[in-house]
Amino acid sequence: MTKVITIAQNKGGVGKSTTAANLGAGLARQGKKVLLIDMDAQANLSTCFTYEAKFHIGQVLTGAVSVDEATLSVGKNLDLIPSVKTLLEFEEAISGKPRREDILRKAIKKYVTGRYDYVLIDTPPHLGLMTYNALYASDYYIMPMQSEFFSYDGIDTLIGHCNNISEDTGLELGGIVLTRYNEKKRGLALQAIANAIKSDPDYKTFRTYIRENNKLFEAQLKHKDIFAYDPESNGAEDYHKLTLELIERYG
Ligand SMILES: Nc1ncnc2c1ncn2[C@@H]1O[C@H](COP(=O)(O)OP(=O)(O)O)[C@@H](O)[C@H]1O
Ligand SMILES: [Mg+2]
Repeated sequence: MTKVITIAQNKGGVGKSTTAANLGAGLARQGKKVLLIDMDAQANLSTCFTYEAKFHIGQVLTGAVSVDEATLSVGKNLDLIPSVKTLLEFEEAISGKPRREDILRKAIKKYVTGRYDYVLIDTPPHLGLMTYNALYASDYYIMPMQSEFFSYDGIDTLIGHCNNISEDTGLELGGIVLTRYNEKKRGLALQAIANAIKSDPDYKTFRTYIRENNKLFEAQLKHKDIFAYDPESNGAEDYHKLTLELIERYG
């Protein structure tokens, strides 16, 4: 069964794109067939792997290009449909269409089913049309949260919107991932994690948390995933653990 997972969070800089890239690479290393889709005009996920692409997700959404044509191989078991800095123009082009939030799902469903084990979709830091399209196309959504700024308000806003979508599509929360965990703020962060897990199991917080690790940033500059860039780093260790935990949950 193909699992489609959106990485979403209203805030920027929390590790969405980093998680999409390295969880994707981690799953591919475990032999899973993975498609990454970049739905953010910042195109950070795309630049983790490539900086030149002929086609992009905007053209898939308008129907100018097929999913097949827009899909690049960026590694063993790992494919990518990149984004583009001008994605907003394509967003505007589809904004008047009927069921405009359901365009991505319709475009990719047939193509991905059976071909991939996992589809991971990276989204912009706001709940606009691109994020809605990602969520409508997904079975699950994962929310990265920066440990120090763990906020129930932020989580509950997104969960509220996703619950509405869920009534239509069956979308489910995959879980919260604590990211950019800072050793120096251990007390606070651990308390937040413990509270989140204890007080509400519905948040499905992953046991693994991702430590602050500059290698993750450096890897992106070199257009590499963390396993290719520095397999001995904390970043590689953490994303490997998160990968195994995801497989434990979803197979
Ligand atoms: N665990 C981490 N440790 C250190 N830097 C990180 C970590 N996760 C992400 N970053 C860096 O922080 C910045 C924001 O991360 P990013 O994944 O792009 O967040 P988002 O997609 O939520 O905006 C990027 O420069 C990235 O390299
Ligand atoms: Mg991002």
